[in-house]
Amino acid sequence: MKPPPGATAGGQAVKATARWRRWLFTVLAVVVGLVAAFWARYGSGRLGSNITEAELRELLQKKEQTLQLSYQLTKLTEVVENLSATGRLNTEAGNRVHAALDRIEGEAGELDREAALKIRWILSIVRGSLHQKLRNLTDEEVEAEGGAFTYANPRYWDSYYQNTTSKERFDWYVAWDDAIKEADFKPLGLASRRVKHFGEMLEPYLSRNEKPRVLIFGCGNSVMSERIYSAGIEDIVNIDISDRLLSDMRTRYEASAPQMQWLFMNASQLDFKEAQFDIVLDKGTLDSLQGNRKLLQVATQEAYRVLQPGALLLSISFTAPEQRLEEQLKRDAQWSECRAHEFVVDNVFGELNRGSQLHLYACLKP
Ligand SMILES: C[S@@+](CC[C@H](N)C(=O)[O-])C[C@H]1O[C@@H](n2cnc3c(N)ncnc32)[C@H](O)[C@@H]1O
Repeated sequence: MKPPPGATAGGQAVKATARWRRWLFTVLAVVVGLVAAFWARYGSGRLGSNITEAELRELLQKKEQTLQLSYQLTKLTEVVENLSATGRLNTEAGNRVHAALDRIEGEAGELDREAALKIRWILSIVRGSLHQKLRNLTDEEVEAEGGAFTYANPRYWDSYYQNTTSKERFDWYVAWDDAIKEADFKPLGLASRRVKHFGEMLEPYLSRNEKPRVLIFGCGNSVMSERIYSAGIEDIVNIDISDRLLSDMRTRYEASAPQMQWLFMNASQLDFKEAQFDIVLDKGTLDSLQGNRKLLQVATQEAYRVLQPGALLLSISFTAPEQRLEEQLKRDAQWSECRAHEFVVDNVFGELNRGSQLHLYACLKP
């Protein structure tokens, strides 16, 4: 998959490429999720016995329509990023994109409730990004426009989880058990090794201390904490900004992982004393905040504050080192050392999003 023209070189263009890939990844992830949900429901035996041919045809038509709308959203995202990166995003272009988004929203109304909802969530973010880029609006001003959000707005996430079934599990970017393209991996201060699964990149960092205390920054409904817990690390504090999500996660794990805590807390205003944790683990949350530079800076400073001396921030991100390392992490806190590890997911997302590197950033507090 090629990045948009004009987004391949230079600071601004590199940032645009990273953002574009993130949008693209989200849309693709939702598409794959919808297809998987479809097959989970209809692909294993129910088709033949419980469904008529006409019903099946209608289902397939709806599925095709969902994929088409998702694809169009991906393309519009690409167009917005490209116009913005090349200085051509003006009112006229913005109106055309808005008209296309309105049409997609109308067509999404014909889908089943779950598919329509997912399409609308992505649509609200594309619309929000357009408002923000066109008129330089704050996160709150974008929301006040109606039907539009930015990822840095906590109300986007809370509304998202309010409308998500408690069964949903979704790992942004990469999950602990995902295969990655085999590569050498040299963790900060430790010997080099070969890695084939993402968890193998986290393990050496997590096992630097015998019983580390881990803070998961914006846990979502990812299985990451569960996998870390089953690897023997039980002192895990998960924070997020959606009550509904946290109550689902608490219920899910109260029997199987009783030591884990699930706390409602804003990453940019942590309710912990300083020097409490051995690891702060972020996957996608700093990326969500980075549209709001001040919020990202404060969240990074909060992560730094609650880490013990000699402890680590681990951040898994789409954002390239030129931006995340040089312009953000290193400027926002006084780390003694930071390292960027690049990796490529070796699964369907990696294939769909070919050429997109992910990064594990490790920063050490002196
Ligand atoms: C991109 S998702 C990543 C979720 C999860 N870490 C994963 O890897 O799948 C970002 C998560 O951060 C949460 N979040 C967003 N802003 C936050 C904030 N200011 N404080 C705490 N959590 C936040 C969202 O609710 C969401 O669950």
